[in-house]
Amino acid sequence: MTTYTVRPGTAADADTVLQLRRHAERWLREAGIDQWTSSTKGSRAIYRQVADGTTFIVRDDSSAPVGSLCLEGPDTDFWTQQEVQQPASYLYKFMLAAAARGTGLGDALLNWACKRAASQGNRWLRLDCWRSNTALHDYYIRRGFQHVDTRTAPGRQSGALFERPTDVILPVRGEVELVDETAVRAG
Ligand SMILES: CC(C)(COP(=O)(O)OP(=O)(O)OC[C@H]1O[C@@H](n2cnc3c(N)ncnc32)[C@H](O)[C@@H]1OP(=O)(O)O)[C@@H](O)C(=O)NCCC(=O)NCCS
Repeated sequence: MTTYTVRPGTAADADTVLQLRRHAERWLREAGIDQWTSSTKGSRAIYRQVADGTTFIVRDDSSAPVGSLCLEGPDTDFWTQQEVQQPASYLYKFMLAAAARGTGLGDALLNWACKRAASQGNRWLRLDCWRSNTALHDYYIRRGFQHVDTRTAPGRQSGALFERPTDVILPVRGEVELVDETAVRAG
């Protein structure tokens, strides 16, 4: 069993999140996957999200950062005015370092994000992801998400929209324990 912790990121974590992003970009490039091709745009979003306090950092039992994700409001380039009225939390920049992928941590984090969203009164966990990356779409479908629509916006390659009801908590494949430090820190 490996124990991981999830806690809110602070401004001091911006470089950590950027490193995770670069690591993910390298993996995607080497795997020949067309996604996250603009480091500059990605960095801008990460700095803003960390400053807004909507990023969460995941560490392993030696305190090494192994992942991060962001939960915030909708991207109105993609979600309609009617949709944004619905109670939902939106997942962005979900990424794990190679050593933590395929361990079950990803499943545990999606469950955690659903529980957190539900505790804030949200019925849906939503995301938009790279339109052309069907393997990534399959990843989310296998984890309880439904495809809502695929939309385009000028200059954007994201727009494949997915949602999962926040009361759907799925079995975690693997021996992982996720300790939620968000409540402790907030208190
Ligand atoms: C998405 C992520 C956090 C999931 O971690 P996880 O739950 O441990 O799942 P895995 O990494 O084991 O991936 C499961 C499968 O999805 C595939 N996959 C994951 N991310 C993918 C991506 N961006 N594009 C294509 N395939 C992807 C993996 O190759 C793996 O395929 P396999 O089962 O054929 O081996 C992690 O894969 C990651 O950091 N990916 C890169 C960043 C990313 O694309 N994030 C999502 C942004 S919307």
